[in-house]
Amino acid sequence: MSDVWDAIRGKRMVRRFADRLLRPEHLTRIVDAGRHAGSSKNKQRWDFVVVEDRARLGALAKVGPFADHVGGAAAAVALVTPDPTVGGASLSLVWDAGLAAENMMLAAWELGVGSCPATVYEQSVARQVLGIPEDRWCGYVLSFGYPADPEDMTRPPKAGGRRPLDEVIHRETW
Ligand SMILES: Cc1cc2nc3c(=O)[nH]c(=O)nc-3n(C[C@H](O)[C@H](O)[C@H](O)COP(=O)(O)O)c2cc1C
Repeated sequence: MSDVWDAIRGKRMVRRFADRLLRPEHLTRIVDAGRHAGSSKNKQRWDFVVVEDRARLGALAKVGPFADHVGGAAAAVALVTPDPTVGGASLSLVWDAGLAAENMMLAAWELGVGSCPATVYEQSVARQVLGIPEDRWCGYVLSFGYPADPEDMTRPPKAGGRRPLDEVIHRETW
């Protein structure tokens, strides 16, 4: 089990990727890891749109101001759910997608594949580039690829990169 702990502690965001495709079995494993995530009432209200086409990746990089890394990725996986912003939608839609995303990024890390999320600010761009149906929503796109700089896989965390345990933990009550 220490492998899981090592991956949780060691995984860094990777935003610059080598110019080569992912091995098909790596890409399949990554998406499959997302499918294995738990979800509220096991509803699995997610679909994953896998993109490898260079022009489409370039277009997807326009979904938001911090999505440039998608343009250089070997593959992107768009997380598509029912729209969580409409009245009465369940918060668990976004929770569930987040669990699937972390599963994918950790599975990728084990394979030597780096990743980074991109927040979709321009829903219309994601919708148009990916052909998402009207009743669905794409809040996040994940970039994947072998790192351009292999040292990204062993890079230590930035100093102060995470709040200390003592600061975030509250025991028994706030
Ligand atoms: C919900 C969420 C949305 C994010 N959106 C973006 C994004 O749009 N662009 C980006 O480059 N990184 C994005 N990130 C990555 C964060 O910036 C990153 O997790 C944080 O800076 C910590 O980086 P580190 O793990 O390398 O220390 C997102 C992360 C999360 C969890």
